[in-house]
Amino acid sequence: MRKLIAGNWKMNGLFAQMDDIAAITEAVAAYPAVDTALCVPALLIRPAAGRFADMAIGGQDCHMSVSGAHTGCISAEMLADAGARLTIVGHSERRAAQGESDADVRGKALAAQAAGLSAIVCVGETEAERDAGQAEAVVLGQLAGSLPDQATGSWLSVAYEPVWAIGTGRIPSTEDVAAMHGAIRAALVARFGAEGNAIRILYGGSMNGDNAASLLAIANVDGGLIGGASLKAEKFLPIVAAAAAA
Ligand code: PGA
Repeated sequence: MRKLIAGNWKMNGLFAQMDDIAAITEAVAAYPAVDTALCVPALLIRPAAGRFADMAIGGQDCHMSVSGAHTGCISAEMLADAGARLTIVGHSERRAAQGESDADVRGKALAAQAAGLSAIVCVGETEAERDAGQAEAVVLGQLAGSLPDQATGSWLSVAYEPVWAIGTGRIPSTEDVAAMHGAIRAALVARFGAEGNAIRILYGGSMNGDNAASLLAIANVDGGLIGGASLKAEKFLPIVAAAAAA
């Protein structure tokens, strides 16, 4: 399976950072065997997608409705209209701060598909849940509730992002990543049959140039969702290079 390395810029990026998108786009061209994407702030989607045809530009969220009285929200159709090819849905920061439920995330994934976008559906346990031995149950529960029945590998990826690993510099052990990605794979195959093997499972949470090679070598780690290390070409590139070598 081709690996996907997707950047999540979160709420970082003014128009001046178009130069950083340019540098990243130019640099990743050296690794055509790896799929890459940058999920940038919504206001950068149209200028970035217009200027960088070689980079898959994405959003970080979308509303589940096509249009309507939802002040401040952005629909999947609007993302696609701006030139996005994909969007993240159900990131833990939104699940926590905006109270998004699994059903909300499922609706957003379906809205993305209807608009012709790929979706990266995020799941992941908190540190308290892991300490209580509930990590796998929590993640598989989120997965069951957040994935629509229509999920296929052609438009949907899962991102396993332990909440306690995001932005902290801490990552789970190789054994824990292998166990969780294996459990997610088994759940995907149980629900979707052979198609479950075609759905990419990304790892996210403090992935960087130093740990990417070992994380991407783990079975069922089909790529990465990268936050902090996706903002600059010199940090993002080593991760893409590691994916090319994996
Ligand atoms: P991080 O963020 O790489 O900065 O830990 C990952 C994410 O939240 O998607």
